[in-house]
Amino acid sequence: METNNTHFSMPRIGDQAPAFTAVTTQGTINFPADYAGKWVIFFSHPADFTPVCTSEFMTFASMADRFAAANTELLGLSVDGLYSHIAWLRTIKEKIEYKGMKHIEVKFPLIEDITMDISKQYGMIQSGESNTKAVRAVFIVDPKGIIRTIIYYPLSMGRNFEELYRAIIALQTADAFEIATPADWQPGDDVIVPTAGSCGVAKSRMEDTENLDCKDWFFCTKKLDKQKIFDTLLAH
Ligand code: BEZ
Repeated sequence: METNNTHFSMPRIGDQAPAFTAVTTQGTINFPADYAGKWVIFFSHPADFTPVCTSEFMTFASMADRFAAANTELLGLSVDGLYSHIAWLRTIKEKIEYKGMKHIEVKFPLIEDITMDISKQYGMIQSGESNTKAVRAVFIVDPKGIIRTIIYYPLSMGRNFEELYRAIIALQTADAFEIATPADWQPGDDVIVPTAGSCGVAKSRMEDTENLDCKDWFFCTKKLDKQKIFDTLLAH
């Protein structure tokens, strides 16, 4: 929603993802309805035919199979038009080699948003950075269409896509096992057992208390096997 000439509200974590219909490089989509039952990383980039964005798309596209295995779809957007998108992605595939990646085909949809309607709806135009380009925004949307994570980067900084993959696995693990993940968590590391006030409560909520390690009433961890995580997530 527009509040004045330069400031726009944006959806927040826990909100239903604002719905829109868009033209993309893979046809017209209705978001988030077309993605029901899947996780989505909906992200914006400043402009086609720019170097940081090119490195990002090559990296993201080369990880597409890993995200697909995690029931996660990728969805890009910039304020460029469809023919610019198509020409840029073709150039990437035919000409650009970067960090050992080459002939990279971007198969996920890239939205054209010439009107800026969608990017304004999602707070992707931030006038302190640019009035004509979207910043590097990332919205992680869950299978029910709820926004679960929001990350913003400036124009000058390429994103860390391993971190986005880690965020997807951490969110799915938290949902599946009713735990939280500590700083720098990677699958296989100990997880946090929410204590709801006391270690005793944490213990009473758990079927298996043997692995519970409470340092104090507010800080309990437990082991969570990496294989068990991926077996559980892949079963969903
Ligand atoms: C880039 O992707 O390289 C870029 C885009 C907009 C501004 C600065 C850099």
